[in-house]
Amino acid sequence: MGCASLQRPYPARMADRIRFSLNDRPVELSGVSPMTTLLDWLRDHRGLKGTKEGCAEGDCGACTVVLERADGRREAMNSCIVLLGQVDSQAVRTVEGLLGPGGAPHAVQVAMADSDATQCGFCTPGFVMSAYAFAAGGEKADPETIHDALAGNLCRCTGYRPIVEAMTRVAGLAIEPASPPPRRTAAAVFEENFHAPRTLAELLKLRVERRGAVLLAGATDLGLLASRSRKPPRSVIHVAHVPELTAIAEDKEQITIGAAVTYADAMPVLIAAYPALKTYLARLGSRQIRTLGTIGGNIGTASPIGDMPPVLLALEAKLLLVSTRGARELALDDFFVGYRKTALAADEVIQSLSMPKLWPGEVFFCDKISKRRDQDISTVAAGYRLRIKNGKIEDVRMAFGGMAAIPKRAHHVEALLLKDGLIAASASALPLDFEPIDDWRGTGAYRMKVAANLLRRLAVRIAEPEFPVEVEAL
Ligand SMILES: Cc1cc2nc3c(=O)[nH]c(=O)nc-3n(C[C@H](O)[C@H](O)[C@H](O)COP(=O)(O)OP(=O)(O)OC[C@H]3O[C@@H](n4cnc5c(N)ncnc54)[C@H](O)[C@@H]3O)c2cc1C
Ligand code: FES
Ligand code: FES
Repeated sequence: MGCASLQRPYPARMADRIRFSLNDRPVELSGVSPMTTLLDWLRDHRGLKGTKEGCAEGDCGACTVVLERADGRREAMNSCIVLLGQVDSQAVRTVEGLLGPGGAPHAVQVAMADSDATQCGFCTPGFVMSAYAFAAGGEKADPETIHDALAGNLCRCTGYRPIVEAMTRVAGLAIEPASPPPRRTAAAVFEENFHAPRTLAELLKLRVERRGAVLLAGATDLGLLASRSRKPPRSVIHVAHVPELTAIAEDKEQITIGAAVTYADAMPVLIAAYPALKTYLARLGSRQIRTLGTIGGNIGTASPIGDMPPVLLALEAKLLLVSTRGARELALDDFFVGYRKTALAADEVIQSLSMPKLWPGEVFFCDKISKRRDQDISTVAAGYRLRIKNGKIEDVRMAFGGMAAIPKRAHHVEALLLKDGLIAASASALPLDFEPIDDWRGTGAYRMKVAANLLRRLAVRIAEPEFPVEVEAL
């Protein structure tokens, strides 16, 4: 049976309207492609030109708008890579929706003006929206938090100092509650090519019936097709409303994260269990990216330089893969089978991933080397889990990204480390595990050197007094 006949069951259904709340007002759309980016719709269809396009690839923050969650949280996101179909059932605020009493400028805008933080008009609306989300979050005005809140907004005129001052002024500002987003309980279909199932059964059925459709989670990878390449996917199945994919579960022994859980939602649980992830995840994209991006998407995209795979390989993650045929568990070790190729069958979906918590005596570290500290994909990334007993390393799992066509365990390095107990010296086995290639991020030789240096850094960390390991000479 050909694909065309498999795709037939849906045309009989009337397309749904895309419904969301924009600046506290309800919006209902039909006749607009759900693959239009939110930014294009705001500017070209709605005439809201305050939100700007800088890079069109999620990097500069000029297009920042705020997602207002049903639980009251405000999260900055990049409207340039968000598809219109994704904002159905959401509440969005743009810079035009910031108003103070009686229509006066909003307190965040006042703080920006009073601090002389309004520089080129191009980036300022994005900074204002990031400041608004930061203020609404009630966060502290410490340099680290402000840096994190601004990492997704680029200013090339070097004017961060007054912006940081404005952020300090608005920290913890009482922000008025937002209107709740419209609720949708049944599956939605926009223009027949954007499916938004509400149950796992619907999702799996669609996966069989719409073989040509791609799974869409946060669109921080796929959205670039619509924004940068101007060639949006022809047909998508949006997984972000399926409860099994958005749940987080935790018991004494393990953590299970739904594949469509965003980084923003997963971070508190992951950092509590594996504290080394705090700095690492803060450098994964920006807040705008982490509002929508998901771990399932990072695994599904199967990039050799994705940040999560090395960490998850070290943590012994297992995936739950589901289809109408049933469910199967697969170790992440067996998921990546070639450059951007995975063991996921055409009718399968990643439902969730589970990782064991650290046992007493186990430690976990991770590291990322990139050309820029923030908002950059890694050149080399690494994750390590070690079990230490009586001053000896008894067990180790380590994995690297950026060193091969797939994110990969370093089996030979692990074996040498267990044999000799020397972390930095075990780097001599790296060439047995990896043959990294040259690309614009770095040469293969550079990557090899970086990986060896990361092992030295691990040795230094392990030598700290909190880890009772016999120290090797470095
Ligand atoms: C500016 C910018 C900065 C970035 N920085 C980083 C970074 O520092 N580190 C990093 O690792 N990445 C980074 N990324 C890439 C991206 O944010 C991540 O890969 C993210 O995790 C993708 O998740 P998503 O939900 O947005 O995926 P999507 O774009 O929705 O999907 C990505 C892929 O995963 C597949 N997929 C999604 N869900 C499932 C599922 N449940 N089952 C099977 N397949 C699925 C999709 O079909 C698609 O092929 C960055 C991207 C941008 C635009
Ligand atoms: S336009 Fe640069 S992040 Fe969207
Ligand atoms: S504010 Fe636009 S470059 Fe600095």
